[in-house]
Amino acid sequence: MTAGGDCPGLNVVIRAVVKIAVDAYKMKVVGFLDGFGGLIHDKAVMLKSRNVSGILSVGGTILGTSNIANPYKYSVEERGKIICKDVSGQAIKNYKKHNLDALITVGGDGTLTIASKLAESGLNIVGVPKTIDNDLSGTDLTFGFDSAIVTATEAIDKLHSTAQSHHRVMVVEVMGRYAGWIALYSGVAGGGDVILIPEIPYDIGKVCKKLDERAMSGKRFSIVVVAEGARPVGGEMTVRRIVETSPDKIRLGGVANRLAEQVEKATHLETRATILGHVQRGGIPTPFDRILATRHGSEAVTMVLEKKFGRMVALRGNRMTDIPINKAIGKLKTVSPDMPLVRYTKLMGIGFGD
Ligand code: F6P
Repeated sequence: MTAGGDCPGLNVVIRAVVKIAVDAYKMKVVGFLDGFGGLIHDKAVMLKSRNVSGILSVGGTILGTSNIANPYKYSVEERGKIICKDVSGQAIKNYKKHNLDALITVGGDGTLTIASKLAESGLNIVGVPKTIDNDLSGTDLTFGFDSAIVTATEAIDKLHSTAQSHHRVMVVEVMGRYAGWIALYSGVAGGGDVILIPEIPYDIGKVCKKLDERAMSGKRFSIVVVAEGARPVGGEMTVRRIVETSPDKIRLGGVANRLAEQVEKATHLETRATILGHVQRGGIPTPFDRILATRHGSEAVTMVLEKKFGRMVALRGNRMTDIPINKAIGKLKTVSPDMPLVRYTKLMGIGFGD
C-alpha cells in the first residue's frame, strides 16, 4: 500500500517488492488501492511481475494514494451530513479477510502514525518511509527528496535567467511542510541569494537589507528561496487550508506572495513570486532515488521474511537497517540552524533573514 502524499520513487518500491517477493520467493502480493481507503473498502489487486514492468521511471504510484483516507478519522455521509468516524475495524477485517502475512505500508509521518496504531491492533506492518520533505526522523534520507530537489533547482535556474533580464527580485516558494530541507538544498544548489526556512524565523528588515545591498553593489537581480513553512520572527506560518480528516490537517502555502509584496514595498525593487507547488512531487524519479527506492523495497521484503513487524526500513549512513515505527514518528527531522551547510553558506553571503 502506498499512502499519504505521493513522491517520485513509489513505483520503484512496488516494482522491487513484487519482483523479489513474487519472482524470487514465490510469495503472493496484493496491492491495496488509494492508500488506507483501499484497505477500508477492500479495493485490492493481485500484483504480478507483468504489472510492474516498465514502471521504474514512472512518477506517482500505480496503486494510487490518499492523504485524507484515515481509518481512525474517516469522513462518511450520514443523514445528509459529513461526519468523521473510526472505521479502523473495517480495515482490520479486510486485512484478515485476505489472510495477509504482512502489510508493507509506504508512507510519511502521517501514514506511519496510522500504521503504528494498526500494528498495535495486531497487524503485521512493515513500514517504508517516503517523502519529498525528508523530514522523517529515524532515517537519514528518504527517496523522493532528490527528485524534488532536481525539480526545484531546475526551476530556480530558469527563474535566474528571467530575473537577470528584468533586473527583478524573484521569490520562489518550495514545499517541505515544517522542515526546510527542500529550500536549503535547492536554494544552495540553485544559487539562491536569500534562503528562508521554518527553522530560522526571518526578520523582513534583514531580508530587504540583503536585497538592497546586492542592488547597491551592482547586482541587478536577486533570488529568494522560501520554504512554505517559513515564518517571520514572532509570526505564524502561512496556512492555505485545513483538511479535517487528514493525519496532518494543515496545508501550507502562499508565503511567497506575502514576502514579494513586502519586499517590493520596502526596497522598491520590482519583485515577482512563484509557487512551485505539486510539480515538486511529480515526474520521473532521479537515478539516485531509483537506487534508494529499490533498496527500500528489497529491504521491506527481507523484513517480511524475517518477521520484523512494527518496524520501518531506515537508512543509516549508507547502510539499510530497520527501527521500530514508533521511534520514527511524532518528532520531525528538521534542519539544524548550526549545521555546516548553513554556516558555510552564510559565510558565502547567503542571507537567512536572521
Ligand atoms: O508532505 C509532502 C507535501 O508535498 C508537503 O511538502 C506539502 O506541504 C503537502 O504535502 C501538500 O499536501 P497536499 O497534496 O494535500 O496539498
